[in-house]
Amino acid sequence: MGTKGREIIKVDIEKLVKMLNKALSDEWLATYQYWIGAKIAVGNERASITSEFSLHAKEEQAHADLIVERIIQLGGTPILSPHDWKTISPITYRRPKFFNVKELLKQNIAGEQGAIEDYQNILDYTAGKDHATYIMVGGILQDEIHHEDELEAMLEDVLAS
Ligand SMILES: [Fe+2]
Ligand SMILES: [Fe+2]
Repeated sequence: MGTKGREIIKVDIEKLVKMLNKALSDEWLATYQYWIGAKIAVGNERASITSEFSLHAKEEQAHADLIVERIIQLGGTPILSPHDWKTISPITYRRPKFFNVKELLKQNIAGEQGAIEDYQNILDYTAGKDHATYIMVGGILQDEIHHEDELEAMLEDVLAS
């Protein structure tokens, strides 16, 4: 990263890179969770979740893209092996046990809630101290809040039907 760009950051960059690498790992696991969910879903509501999950998978991957760019700007090294995803984020990915829409929605809601907490922590850590990361993460958090809201509404519909 440029000299001035680094100079203005008032947080421990190593700690921040660690937090961002955890987020990066979460995003890849979320991408896969949505992507595989869209493929394996069964039940009457399959069509509606297939399109929604496929879209979310793309959006999570776009988040991974933003995060990796910021890690590199900060002079850090992004996670280099998928083997490390589960070590860094042991509880993010939930192996689907049942392929029905209700279970898949519940799993992904739990994933979104974990992401919301992690991004809130990064915002608390960078507020007033690293504006570039703060603004980027704020945008991602808005997407995750939107994802959680959509999935909860879909679950409500499934439960009511
Ligand atoms: Fe995401
Ligand atoms: Fe999300």
